This record gives sequence, structure tokens and C-alpha cells, in this order.
Amino acid sequence: MTIVVKSLQMAKRYISACVSEGEQVVDATCGNGRDTLFLAELVGEKGKVFSFDIQAEALSKTRRLLEANNLLSRVHLIQSGHEHIQDYVHGKIAAVMFNLGYLPGGDHKIVTRPDTTVAALSKSLQLLRTGGIVTIVVYSGHKGGREEKDTLLNYCSRLNQDQFTVLHYTIINQINEPPSLLVLERLL
Ligand SMILES: C[S@@+](CC[C@H](N)C(=O)[O-])C[C@H]1O[C@@H](n2cnc3c(N)ncnc32)[C@H](O)[C@@H]1O
Repeated sequence: MTIVVKSLQMAKRYISACVSEGEQVVDATCGNGRDTLFLAELVGEKGKVFSFDIQAEALSKTRRLLEANNLLSRVHLIQSGHEHIQDYVHGKIAAVMFNLGYLPGGDHKIVTRPDTTVAALSKSLQLLRTGGIVTIVVYSGHKGGREEKDTLLNYCSRLNQDQFTVLHYTIINQINEPPSLLVLERLL
């Protein structure tokens, strides 16, 4: 096992360090459901995961995965854009995971977009409890990916340092533009 890990694995380390059993968390892009499954295991029986995707296919794959692991009761599956998070999630949340881009094995033309991603991030930050975190795995290799990454970096670098700490984790010597990771922690 190596010590320096890929972006998604690093995101899971931060989320695991932050979230306690019984808390509410969000998977902003449920896709094939693996991150939702990870979050459902983390929050325990009394916790809750709100899991968003715009594609019915993603939600049904996630549902099947949760059923197979007997964890569906901990998860609200929501077919809606994550930019509408405040219509569905009430009360404070400990963590939000974004995994941007397209659904692996699905339609590569359906991707997350800069304006809705930033809208969802901004609303997520308002819902975050003190000490809570948002992780964003960002891809730049597909069409529109570079623009989304630049928009996010621009937004995040302007956040008030007294309220949020933002980390950008990126491996710089790999080919094919590997994903990087943003981690935002709410300080107060
Ligand atoms: C890279 S995949 C997510 C992978 C997933 N986390 C997993 O563990 O398999 C990105 C997902 O974002 C979804 N998506 C695109 N725009 C969205 C939006 N506005 N709100 C919520 N999900 C969106 C896509 O449909 C796609 O399934």
C-alpha cells in the first residue's frame, strides 16, 4: 500500500475523519452509488444520507447497490440537480461529497456543469455544521471539465479564510489529467 493516495481515496479519508455516527451527510452526485454506500456505512443506523443525481439510471443503480448491502433505509435517493439541495435537506450536515463529470458506463454527454456545481457548493456551505467538510473530486479531461475546474478554483480561492479553509490536492506527475481534489472545511 502506498502512502500518497488518489483523489477519491483521499476524499474518503477526510470524510471518515470528520463524520460521526448519527449525522446527516450528502452525496451530491450518486452515479453508480459507491460513494453513497461508503457514506451510508459511515453514518450508522441513526444517520441519514441524501443522495442526488439527475439521471434515473444512476438512482436505480444506487438503489440496487444499497439493497444488496441492506442499507437502503439510511438513504434518501433524490432525482434532482444538487443545486436544489436546500429544497430537500434541512438541518445541519456534517459532510458533502461531489464526484464530478459523467456517469461511468453511462452517457458521457451528461456531465456536471460549472454554474450548477458552484450553486450547489455555495448552498452546501450554508448547510454545513462547524467543522464539517465538502470534498470535490474534479476532472478536467472531458469536454467542459477544464472550465468547471477553473470556475471552482476561482470560487474557492475567494472564500473568506476566517470561515473556510480550502485545500487543493493534486498529483502532478501522472499522464491523462488525473482528477484532483478540493476539500473545504467550515471553521465557524
Ligand atoms: C462521476 S459521476 C459520480 C460517481 C459516483 N459518485 C460513484 O460513486 O459512482 C457524476 C454524476 O453526476 C451526475 N450529475 C450531473 N449533473 C448533476 C446535477 N446537477 N446534480 C446532481 N447530479 C448530477 C451525473 O448524472 C453522474 O451520474
